[in-house]
Parts: sequence; structure tokens; C-alpha cells
Amino acid sequence: MFLGIDIGTSAVKVICTDGAEIHASATTDLTLQSPHAGWSEQDPQAWWTATCAALSEIGRATPLSQITAIGLSGQMHGAVLLDDAHRVLRPAILWNDSRSTEDCARLQAALPGIGTISGVLPLPGFTAPKLMWVAREEPEVNARISRILLPKDYIGLRLHGALATDRSDAAGTLWLDQSSRDWSDAVAQASDTDPAWLPRLADGHEVVGQVTPEAARETGLPIGTPVVAGGGDAATGAVSLGATEPGRGFISLGTSGQLFVAGDAYHPNPAKYVHAFAHTVPDRWYQMAAMLNGARPIAWLAGQLGISAGDVVALAESADPTRVPIFLPYLTGERSPHGDPHIRAGFFGLEDTTSRAGLCRAVVEAVAFTFADAVDSFGDTVSALPHLAAIGGGSKSPFLLQLIASATGKRIGRTAGSDAGPAMGAAHLAACGTGAMSLADLGQQPEIADWFDPADVPGLPDRLARYRALYHALKDLS
Ligand code: XUL
Repeated sequence: MFLGIDIGTSAVKVICTDGAEIHASATTDLTLQSPHAGWSEQDPQAWWTATCAALSEIGRATPLSQITAIGLSGQMHGAVLLDDAHRVLRPAILWNDSRSTEDCARLQAALPGIGTISGVLPLPGFTAPKLMWVAREEPEVNARISRILLPKDYIGLRLHGALATDRSDAAGTLWLDQSSRDWSDAVAQASDTDPAWLPRLADGHEVVGQVTPEAARETGLPIGTPVVAGGGDAATGAVSLGATEPGRGFISLGTSGQLFVAGDAYHPNPAKYVHAFAHTVPDRWYQMAAMLNGARPIAWLAGQLGISAGDVVALAESADPTRVPIFLPYLTGERSPHGDPHIRAGFFGLEDTTSRAGLCRAVVEAVAFTFADAVDSFGDTVSALPHLAAIGGGSKSPFLLQLIASATGKRIGRTAGSDAGPAMGAAHLAACGTGAMSLADLGQQPEIADWFDPADVPGLPDRLARYRALYHALKDLS
């Protein structure tokens, strides 16, 4: 039995699988701290506590003694700073934090070719500019940094005691030279980062440690259970869908959104903020549009209205499609395709008669529109694909998937268990690490259970055109 642990932003999700069926799953919610506008932080200890709680729930369904290997997945780009005793120095600065905007400009000026080395232009979500911010604003913390880890690798440290990361997560730091798949001293130097702080690089299916006696006491996992490096959540989501093979593409609808296409060569395309990153498996890369707000605006509106996200989608479905305002979904700025940490969200076109249902529909349509922009920024790479698979919590909604198909013009397919994607991908990497699966097996595609074909939706193309124009009209006002 294999365990996949996904350190998400809104929850830690753990699944236990034999490689095909999910035998047990557990989710423990996390909160996000924002002590200042634009800041987004979490305490790494909260990830560990949530992981232990989820493992204890799994243990009630399946004896943890049956676990033969563990794989890790996690939110990308977060900076976990450790001292020389591997103690956490400050809350982790997350992927959707925008405090380091001015550091990005400095990094770009210091290393004009960075987009070609790192596969994307500097933006505050990535890890390297966060370290420049720490050096500038928190010199006392900076002076004590001895090690840097990414979120899932901190859980790895707590499980097995080693300092390691995989290349797909390393890719999201900016410190990785995507072409050679090794750390770039030039980027480290330009971003106030001592290369000695960076962890060892591994392939996602490589065993990087074994569960220590201390971790076994805290989690109930057997001592010595092998732990593979795993991957960033985009790459592990890909593994769950067989998108390790070139030309496979999918969308992910979580707290963030992604459009991902796997390839066998490195193709940087920094102009539209399409990320070109190393994959978690050897000799593979991927291109990804990363939308910072994903399906999160639906949860945000649900919170404001005091209803559930499901209620927001149901209300949206009931709205008159000819009376829908426009919503810009940029609650935390946007990465692809705008590379704009300053833009913020807003409704436009409200009338006296605008209903609650109309507001809900505007927000759900905006989520679909972000994917239309993503498909557009990929050009031919995506138009050539016969369909896109969908994973993540938002993929549970047929109405949202139908809207995405109609807004993007792409056929969308959903597999059973699509909401457990990254945890499942991490478990597959664990199976691969122990020889139960081969690297070629990772390319197997799960069967599509439901299809969503593009359809004519009244007024949708016009609203998409106005949505696009609205961003350009408002960007200088944010
Ligand atoms: C990808 C990204 C997010 C985080 C959180 O670039 O920023 O997907 O990994 O899920």
C-alpha cells in the first residue's frame, strides 16, 4: 500500500492506495495568515500537525503498518527558512504572496537573461525574490539562514530527517537552471542566496530517506518506511493523469489554477508568463500557465455570502445568462498571462436588477475565463491536443467544467477521483520508487469518466471579450 501526502494551501490531503484504487483518504484544513496586505504565510508546524492528524484518520481505516512507501506533493514556491539546527526561522512565505515585487525588478535588472535560465520571468510568487526581501527587510532572520526548503520538503525533513527536493519543485524557485536541471549559481548569486542553503536535488521517484523513530512515534508510520522526493503539486497532478508523456495536457482547479502540458524538451516562453519547468521525472519538462486565483473566487464569494461553494455554483446555474455582469478574479494579482502582482478583483456592469445569482454566475464565468486566457497564451501547443483532463476540487462541478469547455473551445475530460490528483500522483511516485511501478507505467492514463464538450452559451463570447478588455482598462488603476 502506498501513501500520497499533498501539502496544499487550504488543506493537507493524504490518500492510501494500492496504485489503482483509493483505500482511504483524509483531509485536514489549514488556514492562511495575511498580517499585511499582499502577504500570505503559513506556519510549517501547522502543515506537520495537519499531516499527523490526517495520518491518524487514515490509520483508523487502513493499518499504517501496511504502508510500503510514501510520496510527497505540495504547494510550490513557498520559502521555508531553517537555522543550523533545522529550526524554522519565520512563517513560510507562500506562492501567492506579493511582497517582493521590487525585488523581482532588481533580479531582472541584475540578470537580464534570467527568463531563459529559470523558464519564467521573476514574479513575487517565486522563491528567489522572497529571499531578497528577507535580506532587505529581516536582516536578523537572514543572518541565521542555514537551509531553505519547499513546503513538501519540510514535511520530508520531519519524516526522514534529510534535506532534499525534487526538480519540479526546485523549478519553481527560479534557482534551477531548467535546461541542465541543476542549481544555477548565477541566479543564486543575483538573489542574495548562498547556494549552500539549497537542498540536494533528486528525481521524484528517488527514495531520499526513511521514516525515523521520532516520526514513527508522532505519526504511527512504520520506522524505516521509504519516502520518495515526490513533486510540486502541478507535477504530481500530472503524474496522476499520465502527463509525464509528451503532449499530454490537463487543467487543475484548486486554490490556484493551472494549464499544464508535458514535453520532452525545454521550451522557454517567458513573454506570456507561461512557465517552462523541469518535470519531476527524468528527461521531461512541462509548460504551465499558472493562474493565482484558480477556483478560489468561488470560495471567496461563498464566504462573503455565508453560503457554500456548491451553493454559489447552483445559484450561478440558475441565473439568467443574458443578465450577467463581469467579474475580474484577481484577488491576489495574477501570474499567467499578465505577470501582474498589483491588479485586484472587481465586479463591473452591475445594474439595479443584478441578482445574487447573477453575481455568482459572474464569478464562476471568471474562473472559466482565466482558462480561456491560458489556452490562448499557449497557442498551437494546446490547440493540437484532442482534449484536456481536469483535476482539483473545482473539477467536482459539472457546470464549471462545461463553462470552461465553452469558454476555451476545448473538450474537457474528468476521471473518477479527479479531486485527489496530486496526492495520487505522489503515491504513484512512491510506487515507482520501490519498483512496484516503472517510469513507463507512470505514463498510463486513467479512464475518462465524464466528457464536457464546447457549447454555445448565450452572451459568453461577448462577456469574454469584455472581461479581457476590462483588465487592460483597469490595470493602471490597481
Ligand atoms: C504553481 C502555483 C500553485 C501552487 C499552489 O505555480 O503557484 O499551483 O503550487 O497550489
